[in-house]
Amino acid sequence: MSFRILGTGSALPATTVSNEDLTKFLDTSDEWIRTRTGITERHVMNDEESLLTLATAACQNALEMAQTAPEEIELIVCTTLAGDYTSPALSCLIAKELGLSDRVITMDTNMGCCGFEYGLQIAHAYFASGMISKKAIVVSAEGLSRHADWTDRATCCLFGDASGAVVLEAAPDRKVDFDWTVSGNADILNITRHADNSPWNSYDGKGVLHMNGQEVFKFAVSSINARICAVLEKNGLAPDDIAKFFLHQANIRIINSAIHKMGVAPEKFPHNIERLGNTSSATIPVLLDETVRAGGIQRGDKIVLCAFGAGLASIACLLEY
Ligand code: UT7
Repeated sequence: MSFRILGTGSALPATTVSNEDLTKFLDTSDEWIRTRTGITERHVMNDEESLLTLATAACQNALEMAQTAPEEIELIVCTTLAGDYTSPALSCLIAKELGLSDRVITMDTNMGCCGFEYGLQIAHAYFASGMISKKAIVVSAEGLSRHADWTDRATCCLFGDASGAVVLEAAPDRKVDFDWTVSGNADILNITRHADNSPWNSYDGKGVLHMNGQEVFKFAVSSINARICAVLEKNGLAPDDIAKFFLHQANIRIINSAIHKMGVAPEKFPHNIERLGNTSSATIPVLLDETVRAGGIQRGDKIVLCAFGAGLASIACLLEY
């Protein structure tokens, strides 16, 4: 059994932070951020917001579009770098807020910026195994403003917070396939853990994000094309067969490089990095939701989602919408 996307949803924090706002405490400029990244503003959570409030709103939007009652959901996969609590898992809390059944399968998964596609892969496996037979939610909820080092101009200006969700329905005839790689490298991109007070451990980490931007950039531009070509080739498809390519939103220059390498019309690569920055695993489901609501894809269209990031990992997912 395969699946199809029945509904999409997204939610953003109310507060927007412009590049100009960042210049008040960082040695940076709107011009540098815009020309090097494409970003003009990002949304960040305030004290009244949490990943739970964002993710719940995104799921509710997706359930509404899918005309699905909460009790029909058999599985909820939440992808996040870190939930509001280390434990319990964010998916358990979202399930309660949404009023899902107390028999729903809940799990959080952390595959960095590739999380949403890994979440789809997990849901796909549950449908294929027969462990679920009707409907599932995959929701990505990310609070990068909590992980960024706001004294590091080379990284903090890139990130924002958001949540995006999809409701999936079992569908026997829908094409779904993946191609992925992982290398187990923590040097180029990592978020250290916070200090603890174990008497047997002197670790004093600050829990912030560290990144060698140029190395990630090189990895991104080579892996996007490799993953997309691999998943298309496996399925006997060409780039022209694909209605839209949804790339992880990390840098407009990375997106433009992919467009150039693929030789595909730029209109096939929607982007929202200008308004939202990089929201890790949430970039693709939020972009998907915005595109669906704007009528940018039609039922039956073949689409490709492609992400890269911490791991270092990269993944492409081919879907029939
Ligand atoms: O989802 C996770 C995946 N992450 C990514 O995909 C990130 C991929 N990497 C990138 O997007 C880019 O590498 C960055 C946007 C992070 C950096 O762009 P870059 O063109 O690679 O710049 P750079 O790191 O080579 O820095 C160039 C200069 C440096 O100054 P010098 O050494 O030339 O004097 C930096 O200190 O720009 C300086 N710089 C800044 N200046 C003003 C770095 N950050 C800033 C800043 N404002 N915010």
